[in-house]
Amino acid sequence: MSEPASRARHVAIIMDGNGRWAKKRHLPRAMGHKRGVEAVRRLVKAAREMGLEALTLYAFSTENWRRPEAEISALMGLLKAFILADLEEFAANNVRLKIIGDYHAFPDDVVKLIDGALARTAANTGATLVVALNYGSQDEIARAAAKAAAKGVVTIESITAELDTAGLPPLDLLIRTSGEVRLSNFLLWQAAYAEMLFVDTLWPDFTPEHLQAALDDFAKRERRYGGR
Ligand code: IPE
Ligand code: IPE
Ligand code: MG
Repeated sequence: MSEPASRARHVAIIMDGNGRWAKKRHLPRAMGHKRGVEAVRRLVKAAREMGLEALTLYAFSTENWRRPEAEISALMGLLKAFILADLEEFAANNVRLKIIGDYHAFPDDVVKLIDGALARTAANTGATLVVALNYGSQDEIARAAAKAAAKGVVTIESITAELDTAGLPPLDLLIRTSGEVRLSNFLLWQAAYAEMLFVDTLWPDFTPEHLQAALDDFAKRERRYGGR
């Protein structure tokens, strides 16, 4: 039996297009990333106000190490600045931070800041902000399958329980900005029955109004899960 999709609980976003946003303005790529962080700030606040239980943001993929060192270190710097500037607001708003991906590959100072932010918000019971850092879905699935195998039971359920996303509501809607229509190794397992939305907007231009439009679009969809 099909069911009306209605309200999304868990939305994930592939935040793409920072570089093209900067290029269009003849600005350095790092400026695109900086404006991208501002978009994140607006969106996290809006997602909380819109009643989402979880917002998952793809911030750095296992493939993004292929970028020039200067760009990678600019991204690390922005991540640190974001945590330092916004952590108290998350804490005050009962937001819980969660990381998916193996962020321990990041520089020590970044790892320490992340660990501090996780501890600071661990007891919060409001919305969960999930940030994907050094995340690759194939890596995640391989790690989860190995853990399930080590415990002696390899089933869909046992693998799902070992994924980095364990404990989060099922993924309802996956959005990618910037006009690219691919998943780039993001939430492959979790997206099995998620709704997808690809928009042309470049990430720094993505506003709470775009998110609201995406949720309205989602609410009209009919999810069938293979039934009829
Ligand atoms: C997304 O913007 C941000 C990250 C991948 C960190 P891009 O940097 O990929 O921007 P484009 O795709 O080159 O425009
Ligand atoms: C996906 O964007 C990763 C993030 C948004 C963090 P990319 O810009 O890295 O993806 P490709 O290379 O276009 O597939
Ligand atoms: Mg890109």
